[in-house]
Amino acid sequence: MTRRRRSSTATSTTETSTAVTATIRPTTGAVTIMEIDDSKYQLEDIDGVGKVTAQKLRDAGYTTVRDVAFASVRELAEVIGSEERAKTIILNAQRLLGIKPFMTALEYYQRRQAVRYISTGCRALDELLGGGIETRAITEFVGEFGAGKTQICHQLCVMVQLPPEKGGLAGKALYIDTEGTFRPERIMQIAKYRGLDPEEALKNIIYARAYNSDHQIMIVDEAKKIIRQENIRLIVVDSLVAHFRAEYPGRENLAARQQKLNQHISQLLKIADIYNVAVVVTNQVIAQPDVFFGNPLKPAGGNVVAHGCTYRIWLRKGKENIRIAKVFDSPYHPEKEVTFRITEEGIVD
Ligand code: GTP
Ligand code: MG
Repeated sequence: MTRRRRSSTATSTTETSTAVTATIRPTTGAVTIMEIDDSKYQLEDIDGVGKVTAQKLRDAGYTTVRDVAFASVRELAEVIGSEERAKTIILNAQRLLGIKPFMTALEYYQRRQAVRYISTGCRALDELLGGGIETRAITEFVGEFGAGKTQICHQLCVMVQLPPEKGGLAGKALYIDTEGTFRPERIMQIAKYRGLDPEEALKNIIYARAYNSDHQIMIVDEAKKIIRQENIRLIVVDSLVAHFRAEYPGRENLAARQQKLNQHISQLLKIADIYNVAVVVTNQVIAQPDVFFGNPLKPAGGNVVAHGCTYRIWLRKGKENIRIAKVFDSPYHPEKEVTFRITEEGIVD
């Protein structure tokens, strides 16, 4: 099946002047951003960064050359005071790591080869998704209460731990819980069924409870520091929009809410890309009272979520434990529905 990337406008708007690309070494093929080795450098090695600036950067959470190389000019200007200087420092950091602004389509193709898939553990769902949950992308599960969004998130936190031959990425998961619905007991059940030691499976999930939207954004910022060292390959945000909706009610707050939500989604997309991790978010549906024909429900978060999320899957309840999944909003995916079941063992065919 043809896979496509929805436009990542969310990131590109904040990165107009600093194209984020990876370099290619002719002898070894594509060097993905994951493979860029910044371990032998420190911030002071960047041209134009002295002791004082380095300290300012560290205090603001930019601890590695890579953090600086992929920062947006605006973000960095907030730390060091001037946009002009921020731009220079970002370019110098990129140069230090051998990142160049342009690449050939072949190089881009090679870079795409680094994309990996996490099996959902359910063949029908994997097929619907074209192989599973993709890294370097945001996959959104939308649906009413009880549709199975949280259950899928739990399952994926286990699946990502499996070795590649069993559909995983032999990595850890970061679970950002905004609603307090994460259940370790459920992880243990699913892990057991998948042949993992339940306690080990729990150890490989890093949990963070987000108490409000600012906190949610802060957790993702902090996450940057541990993704590599902990080998995190999946980030779950359950749910993406709930705090934003609660904190910014009504039309008068809509613009502010959407702007902040956009910032959050950009942040997630950028992390997905830079660290080659999969990001999975859940989203609620809201009723559209003025719709008389067609679906009276729509995903929360409006255009910002619609544009920011790479793949969108709608979940519906069927009879008893049957659930129906469908990719929507994607001209490149078939208008196909698949079913799966929620059981004691997790999500199954
Ligand atoms: P909201 O967060 O409320 O919007 O819903 P959600 O889409 O996250 O729903 P969730 O994933 O929590 O799905 C809940 C459904 O999973 C319920 O219908 C439960 O019956 C089912 N479920 C949860 N745990 C188990 C279990 O251990 N066994 C079985 N058979 N079903 C379970
Ligand atoms: Mg839920």
